[in-house]
Amino acid sequence: MPYAHITGWGMAVPDTVLTNDELAQRVDTSDKWIREMTGIHERRIARDREYPSTLGVKASIRALNVANLKPTDVDLIICATSSPEYIFPATACLIQDQLGATKAGAFDLSAACTGFIFAANMAAQAIRSGSIRNALVIGTETLSRFVNWEDRKTCILFGDGAGAFVLQASETPGGVLSAVMHSDGSGGDLLSVPAGGSRHPASEQTLRDGRHFIHMDGREVFRFATRVMGHAAREALDLAGLTTDDVQWIIPHQANFRIIETAAKYLKLPLDRFVINVDRYGNTSTASIPIATVEAQEKGMLKNGDRIVLVGFGGGLTWGALVAEWTGPLPLERLVHAERYRTWARLRSILLRIMRFFEGLIWGRNS
Ligand code: ACO
Repeated sequence: MPYAHITGWGMAVPDTVLTNDELAQRVDTSDKWIREMTGIHERRIARDREYPSTLGVKASIRALNVANLKPTDVDLIICATSSPEYIFPATACLIQDQLGATKAGAFDLSAACTGFIFAANMAAQAIRSGSIRNALVIGTETLSRFVNWEDRKTCILFGDGAGAFVLQASETPGGVLSAVMHSDGSGGDLLSVPAGGSRHPASEQTLRDGRHFIHMDGREVFRFATRVMGHAAREALDLAGLTTDDVQWIIPHQANFRIIETAAKYLKLPLDRFVINVDRYGNTSTASIPIATVEAQEKGMLKNGDRIVLVGFGGGLTWGALVAEWTGPLPLERLVHAERYRTWARLRSILLRIMRFFEGLIWGRNS
């Protein structure tokens, strides 16, 4: 049975920085309150023409370059996102098209901020089963478009960005060692975007009521998160036959510094074993864990063979953890630049659209 190794990683964040002080000019809050209550100093906000797919493509190209794979080598793309571009088509399909990953099946996975862990686990299982060899797992968000910028309880928390992993089959033991996934739908209303789906389709009333924005019972979500984070990490470690002593890094979902602090206490681990960057990006939902992982790798914190625990929680409610042995960069056998395939992908996409148009003319569908 092949092992699923993490052989590529990449991230992309918008250039625009929104500081706490700037937020304090829009709503009744302060830099001091936000820092003390959340640990967040600033976050990135997508520009007009930045979308989950464009950020996801940038992160994916970087991940494919690290793994030395072409987009056409990818068998499966799973995109975890809480801010999909459309109800359908899936954001994963937009990314698949922009990358030119023509052989990949692509779909979105919705598990809010836990989505990246669920997606990485699903991709690892597909590799372990032998049905695919190369998977691209993406967490990408422009949650700023679902934030009510007049609601100080939520607008201070979220930021935009994307992160991606390449998972590859290998006969060498290692890679993803275990994972646990949990849900409790009874808490769905604690964190939701109430309108815009088929239960409450968009209407003048839903717009007037601000029901297309993120609604959150912060206190209850905080209580839930502190209850489940440490527990999920321990559960995944038990499943892998490991203890916290066997692990070098915990990479938690970056929602609130105080939640991470509570998880550290539960696990009886010092905070310096946790990768933390919530101060610079805020809560980027599905993207937070891969972004933190990429930064840890780039800072030289992750060494080949290190054991890591990814752990998260989110709307749904959902929570989970994944234990992996960090494979690190593979030795270069050939040099592939995934971005080169983008121009071909664009051309191919335009040509296919033109062909579909003429096909429609021939069959009388465009009249
Ligand atoms: N600035 C100043 N004061 C504020 C702000 C703000 N930005 N926000 C709330 N307050 C005030 C409230 O109005 C309230 O004042 P009042 O007592 O006079 O009414 C007081 O602070 C306490 O408000 P709470 O909402 O109860 O504050 P709490 O201690 O719960 O902290 C926070 C709020 C930071 C949001 C916290 O609840 C939290 O981090 N929760 C978890 C949120 C989270 O992680 N969400 C993401 C989940 S992941 C996903 O799936 C998207």
